[in-house]
Amino acid sequence: MAHLLAGLGTSHVPSIGVALDRGQQQSPEWKAFFDGYEPAQQWVRDNRPDVAVVVFNDHYNAMFLDRVPTFAVGCAATYAPVDEGWGPRAIPTFEGHPDFSWFLVDALVDNKFDPEIIQEIKVDHGLQVPLELFWGRPADRWPVKVVPIFVNVLQFPIPRPDRLYELGHALGAAIRAYDSEERFVVLGTGGLSHQLQGSRAGFTNPEADRAFLHDIATDPTKLAGWTREQYVETFGGEGAEVIMWLVMRGALDDVVTVLFDHYFVPASMTGAGMIGLQNTLR
Ligand code: DHB
Ligand code: FE
Repeated sequence: MAHLLAGLGTSHVPSIGVALDRGQQQSPEWKAFFDGYEPAQQWVRDNRPDVAVVVFNDHYNAMFLDRVPTFAVGCAATYAPVDEGWGPRAIPTFEGHPDFSWFLVDALVDNKFDPEIIQEIKVDHGLQVPLELFWGRPADRWPVKVVPIFVNVLQFPIPRPDRLYELGHALGAAIRAYDSEERFVVLGTGGLSHQLQGSRAGFTNPEADRAFLHDIATDPTKLAGWTREQYVETFGGEGAEVIMWLVMRGALDDVVTVLFDHYFVPASMTGAGMIGLQNTLR
């Protein structure tokens, strides 16, 4: 039985990656944001997870509108960082975990989730930024294997929030059933509030973001019961991607303990949130 150490949630704003590339962690604009991740990085150093299942969305960097899987699981041995147009970033390629990926695909189909199976794909800021926020930038290789779960949160119809919560239940069960001593974390990424385009471009909702950070720990079924339209209204057109945190939360028990959390607004155009959750009964 593999071990599920924790669920981690974080925003994945691409300009965080740019700030890291430029070494701007101590700049007046960014210091308070990056300081908030120190307890999380300390937790990662102390607990050394072996595998990170990363729930995120591709932002039309590796896939485009010609193929939009609602759910997809990466089953590759490696995932190179995609160049999003600013040139290649100085971060290593991510190592995958094909054996667990195929085990997970089997378990999901068995649970009536039918993901697309991806054998070759690059990964964008949705995965790159969270990995670096929690693990820091490695010199030559990432100290954790990644299993990407892609969710369509851009092209409507996006999946229902309650469906993502149920996907998390199936993911958590698969981790617990996996015959291995490896130590897993599940990352939910994206959000919190932001709208990048249209008449509400620039919209953030710090009050709703803080409530989300509270409720994702204590009352996830409430958040799973919201409609997609409520998410768009409350968090913005792109901020609705925060529903991906429900997969992370669904993998955990009903009762969790908050290990650390942080909120900073605005990071680029986003209310940037972070949380670490652990099952209270261990
Ligand atoms: C921004 C945030 C995102 O989550 C994203 O995917 C792209 C851009 C932003 O605030 O700039
Ligand atoms: Fe995003």
